[in-house]
Amino acid sequence: MRKNFNLLWILFFALLGCKTEQSKDSKNLTSQEIRQKMSFPDDFVWGTATAAYQIEGGYQADGKGASIWDTYTNEHHITFFLTGEKQTANTAINHYDRKQYLQDIQLMKQAGIRSYRFSVAWSRILPEGIGEINPKGVAYYDQLIDDLLAHDIEPVLTIYHWDLPQKLADKGGWTNPKSVDWYANYANIIFDKYGDRVKKFITFNEPFINQLFLEPLIQQGINHEIPQFPPSERSFTKNVKNVHHWMIAHAKAVQNYRQKQLGGTIGITLSISPVYPKTQSTEDFLAMKRTDGIHNRWFLDAVLKGEYPTDILQLYRTIEPLEFLPKDMSLLRNNPPDFIGINYYAPTRVQWDEDESFGIELLPNPDDNQAFNGEVYPEGLYDALMKIKTNYGNPVVYITENGAGFGKKDDQIRDGKIYDNLRCDYIREHLAQANRAIQNGANLKGYYLWSFFDNFEWVFGFDRRFGVVHVDFETQKRTPKQSFYEYAKIIKKQDLKMPL
Ligand code: BGC
Repeated sequence: MRKNFNLLWILFFALLGCKTEQSKDSKNLTSQEIRQKMSFPDDFVWGTATAAYQIEGGYQADGKGASIWDTYTNEHHITFFLTGEKQTANTAINHYDRKQYLQDIQLMKQAGIRSYRFSVAWSRILPEGIGEINPKGVAYYDQLIDDLLAHDIEPVLTIYHWDLPQKLADKGGWTNPKSVDWYANYANIIFDKYGDRVKKFITFNEPFINQLFLEPLIQQGINHEIPQFPPSERSFTKNVKNVHHWMIAHAKAVQNYRQKQLGGTIGITLSISPVYPKTQSTEDFLAMKRTDGIHNRWFLDAVLKGEYPTDILQLYRTIEPLEFLPKDMSLLRNNPPDFIGINYYAPTRVQWDEDESFGIELLPNPDDNQAFNGEVYPEGLYDALMKIKTNYGNPVVYITENGAGFGKKDDQIRDGKIYDNLRCDYIREHLAQANRAIQNGANLKGYYLWSFFDNFEWVFGFDRRFGVVHVDFETQKRTPKQSFYEYAKIIKKQDLKMPL
């Protein structure tokens, strides 16, 4: 019998994502010792990240078309089940307003941030996803990029962070093979408009989480079906076809970008989670290998090797007849990204259970402090980075997201100040492990904290705060938290070559 999960549990795991081998050399060092040895290269990029739908607001401003998230929140009230409220990001944290974002940029400066990863809302640029370009939408990001550069902050542009134009969803969205051309056309516009000033582009954010977990669960909710988690083998495997459209679209964008010779770099952001088996038994080891294959290797192999891992391909093919055109695979092989962005939040611990999808039972988070995105395990970041180094020819890597929220256990407001010790520890410990990976040869070039601001956390609405800057969602007042000062201190000390 499959286990019954309640909806909260389901979505918690869905966002947590699935996640590989134990860390070695740190075992003899305390985390304090690791931190004291922490020294990042001079050109290490200190950044922070956001995504359009989560912060911008202005959901109908200046000719913007609707995105699927506008529809989910305004029409399907998708947050209701989890928050008990019909929340939308129609205003979000008002970052569409230049007066507001200029203050936000000032705060970034104050923290010592050098690089800002943001995403573009496709339906601002192309209200219908294809066809007419909306000049006002283009102008918004033009101005934002200029304003960032004027403050010496590098703009890093994610082309797609989950907010598909509704008009394209009406045509079948990512299930439609034409989606590859829709995306390639949109990405070309982005390169043409912003490629003179933006030198780092990210094609997609987290194909695994978005296409294989979040979207299917939302669609089930909208269809009044009971969301199934983990997804059934059949529905999961079917969605692998959609995710293949992301992969080809990504490779096409890389190819087009290179042909334009704009002098920058282009990569993709993947959700990466190292997977650990409960025991060393053959069965648990198989569960680990499969989870790693489904969550990590499927995407890393596709974009860095131009192939899908044979064991997982065979597994999927026992369920669905999956065929990938040789021309698609050679497009991927011939267009590897310049860098890989990894989003690391938590590891995945598994054991074998033949009654579960693919024989994988995901084990619950063992921590007392239940972080929103799963177990806090900084060594997992080290393990993930070292595995990418060893298995994929040591590509350039950026940590494009890493961060945490703990709800009421953290983020405590006293005398107008916000204390978030748990988040401070999280940031320090993960940076120490990132640094340890660099010292052991990983080609890690930068770190983007998720997130600078509290914002709209998808299906969890405003209830899950991940920011180092507190936002009062009623008044839009920003208040730097203790973690803001902590991150600023780390950056400063690294600049001064001081130990932490
Ligand atoms: C997503 C972000 C999200 C963060 C925290 C990542 O999976 O890219 O959009 O807010 O996790 O849950």
